[in-house]
Amino acid sequence: MKTVKYFMIIGIIAIGALSFTLAIQDEWVVPAKYKTMKNPTDAKDSENMAIGKSLYAKQCSSCHGKKGWGDGSKAKEMKGDLGDFSSNTTQKATDGELYYKITTGRNDMPAFDKKIASEDDRWLVVNYMRTLAK
Ligand code: HEC
Repeated sequence: MKTVKYFMIIGIIAIGALSFTLAIQDEWVVPAKYKTMKNPTDAKDSENMAIGKSLYAKQCSSCHGKKGWGDGSKAKEMKGDLGDFSSNTTQKATDGELYYKITTGRNDMPAFDKKIASEDDRWLVVNYMRTLAK
């Protein structure tokens, strides 16, 4: 009887640890270094904004949708939460956090460190995302 109890306790601990790990994984953790990173581009420059806009249309809108609502043509095939770029949840992220997510991707979200190889261009996409705020 003692061994049964023993295994039950081990089982409960294992399940607890597993759900804890899954919960942590679900939060997209951004390294501190990126959180406070300064956006080196000028968001007020109209030429810059045009570049950000066209990169977004080409590289992001198929999944995230034209307005960032998470309603692009490929959105239904995606696992994970595409978010809503017009929402406060996404907009409250720092530029550095958005930059990090675009750069590294995760799960079904591609990494853009090679697809948008210029760091400045990735920052310009961040600037464009700011214009999608409600
Ligand atoms: C192939 C589809 C796809 C493309 C293309 C794509 N994403 Fe994503 N994106 C996703 C998925 C799926 C997630 C959710 C990932 C997860 O958490 O598992 C996501 C999550 C995100 C997030 C975090 C959610 C939030 O609201 O903060 C940001 C930011 C983001 N994407 C920005 C971009 C940008 C900018 C581009 C274009 C440079 C882009 N994505 C291109 C699929 C895509």
